[in-house]
Amino acid sequence: MDKLIVHGGATLRGTINISGSKNASLPILAASLLTPEPCIIRHVPDVSDTNYMIQILSAMGADVERSSGTVRITCETISDQAPYELVRRMRASICVMGPLLARKGRAVVSLPGGCVIGDRPVDLHLRGLEALGAKVEFEGGNITLTAKDGLRGAEINLCGTHGPTVLGTDNVMMAATLADGMTIIESAAAEPEVLDLANFLNAMGANIQGAGTQRIVIEGVKELHGIEHTVIPDRIEAGTFMVAAAIAGEGVTLCRVCRDHLKAITDAIEQSGHYVQFNASGDVCTVRRNGHARGVDLVTAPYPGFPTDMQAQMTALLATTPDVSIIKDTIFPQRFMHCAELKRMGADIKVDHGTAVVRGIPQLSAAPVMASDLRASAALVLAALTAKGSTEIIRLYHIDRGYEHIDEKLLMLGANVERVKER
Ligand code: EPU
Repeated sequence: MDKLIVHGGATLRGTINISGSKNASLPILAASLLTPEPCIIRHVPDVSDTNYMIQILSAMGADVERSSGTVRITCETISDQAPYELVRRMRASICVMGPLLARKGRAVVSLPGGCVIGDRPVDLHLRGLEALGAKVEFEGGNITLTAKDGLRGAEINLCGTHGPTVLGTDNVMMAATLADGMTIIESAAAEPEVLDLANFLNAMGANIQGAGTQRIVIEGVKELHGIEHTVIPDRIEAGTFMVAAAIAGEGVTLCRVCRDHLKAITDAIEQSGHYVQFNASGDVCTVRRNGHARGVDLVTAPYPGFPTDMQAQMTALLATTPDVSIIKDTIFPQRFMHCAELKRMGADIKVDHGTAVVRGIPQLSAAPVMASDLRASAALVLAALTAKGSTEIIRLYHIDRGYEHIDEKLLMLGANVERVKER
């Protein structure tokens, strides 16, 4: 296992490329199960979550080749079962369920276990697939879905108590592409990753309209075919480096971003006083730190609101921003594990019922800290950039799940970081 040592105090400057989106790549890789023909997917980030997805697809019979960000997948003959040993490692493997059911009429997938950022049930996924005609059974920790006579279109509302579901929308949308008739998903997730998946499916021959809004209409087709697709930029990786620049930057430029996907993150960083500038085409942005920053109040919300996946990183920024900031996570109210670790670095944060009250202090101090999930670990790395001393972040595998070469990118910007083996 690796750990990261961050020697605080270096100023970040320079230019890096943002990778393809992890959260768009995962369902798009799974969608290749919908056709026996080869799919070529470009800009798939080399992170452990995409590696798990590729291992799951390979174990199910897919033929996969991967080289420098391009994945070629052919799912000619596939099994209807996703193997537990691989599925249990990544909650997002649940998104093989919809395409498998549509292609094979049966899908056996392990029920995802607990997760450090919250309970994360899959009731909405199942409600949607049941509405399409699937029979749902639970046995031995597995969910078995069967649709002997095929799936048929239906009207489905996917709103849960915490709002829409991203992977649930993906699952139902993928299943509905091959269903008989029309499916209407109300209260669909409108995240750019859902739209990227819909674009991938439409290029395969699906008939999907309204993706990227809360109402998606899918007219089922008989079959889908192989295509080539380039995954959208990772807005959360971009946001994480934007925050790094706001914490410790003197002009950090990020290439291969998408301005439209970054509006809420840009607003939050600008409201805290820092400078964000995009080029005319919106695919390059430069962030500069303002020494006279101010606190902000943030509430996470489904897209286009402020993303829960940026909540921890903004908390790290606000920990050393003057004033009191209030951060509420309405999507995952238990997603505050990073706060306990930031407090070990001296941060003044109180968490109560899904809300963190952050009183900014002038400087954090280094401490040994532990990564608990992907975005929490990113927050610790960001906090360590300007902390006094050298911070050791253990359990780095959490960050490797979703950030491609994060230590190399930070080094390119001038940060003083070392990846070393945990003893
Ligand atoms: N929910 C239910 N029932 C369901 C599904 C979800 O109640 O059947 C609840 C969840 O518990 C949560 C809310 O609905 O309170 C939203 O969860 P959602 O289903 O949208 O989450 P997800 O699709 O499992 C994706 C991302 C997460 C991101 C969330 C929210 C991927 C692979 N994962 O998860 O990303 O936090 O949407 O935007 O796309 C990350 O990248 O670090 C990450 C956790």
